[in-house]
Amino acid sequence: MGIYIVQTVIARNFKSLSHTLKNIDLKKNKIGLVPTMGCLHDGHLELIKKSKKLNYFTIVTIFINPLQFNNKADLKSYPSKEKTDIILLKKNKVNLIFIPNIAEVYPKNYSTYLYESSFSKILCGKHRKNHFSGVTTIVLKLFLLIKPNFVFFGEKDFQQLVIISKIVKDLNLDLKIIKVPTVRDEYGLALSSRNNLLSKKNLLLARKLYQSLKKVEEYKTKDVKHIINKLKTSLKKLGITNIEYLEIRESINLKTPRYIDEKKETRVFVAVNINKVRLIDNYVIKKISPRKV
Ligand code: PAJ
Repeated sequence: MGIYIVQTVIARNFKSLSHTLKNIDLKKNKIGLVPTMGCLHDGHLELIKKSKKLNYFTIVTIFINPLQFNNKADLKSYPSKEKTDIILLKKNKVNLIFIPNIAEVYPKNYSTYLYESSFSKILCGKHRKNHFSGVTTIVLKLFLLIKPNFVFFGEKDFQQLVIISKIVKDLNLDLKIIKVPTVRDEYGLALSSRNNLLSKKNLLLARKLYQSLKKVEEYKTKDVKHIINKLKTSLKKLGITNIEYLEIRESINLKTPRYIDEKKETRVFVAVNINKVRLIDNYVIKKISPRKV
């Protein structure tokens, strides 16, 4: 008989993680894992609440993974608030918080990486060298250490979700990915730890990003190039001038169509820099309004 852990346990190294995992009665409990880089907000909480609601033994990991940052300044400025994160996780009755340290995750002379070679080359992957290799390496490590039954990921990072689903399939990993829709603020801005880095003025600008994405159906055209050009012009007019990429792709295979096929789920993918703060979002294109005659 395993011990039923009611209180939140915090493990800060592999040994204490493995000790806690050994005490879970796996006949009675399914393990739900929520990997994060901390600085938690309602977006993360949605993933956690979903795991708790499904009655899984819920494990949240907090680890700012240096491997996935292609830029040192970006890593250095990445926000962290461990104390409040822990309070929040306890309040939400998370069963186990795993906060490993870099030296144990990537000891000196670490040299093993995972690389998905198709979806990782486009969108964020094109602009952030080795980013997805960093993501898949840490995620696989967490899967191997924790052996979860279910792992929760947000649609806000849709490309990440697609790539992780691909490694799970390609490597026949025995777990299920559960995707959670993007949580937004009341103005539609996708919640992100990086929003903390925006000034008040730039927060207002960031909110206009989603407002603009929402208008693509009103362009009354299915021509992808046309939509992109109009959207770029509209963002620039608003003051969002530093656009890293703006692309339209089908959700299932991330292929770019020439024309929107409304039978297939298609998304606008965007990455912008607002005063050095990099924000990404994606928007599912709904039914395109017909042209007036
Ligand atoms: P992080 O940015 O902390 O996000 C952790 C998880 O929360 C991801 O699955 C992300 O998609 C989800 N998430 C973030 N903002 C969200 C929002 N507004 N709505 C819904 N879900 C949201 O993504 C990472 O960390 C890292 O790459 C990680 C997977 C932990 C690997 O290091």
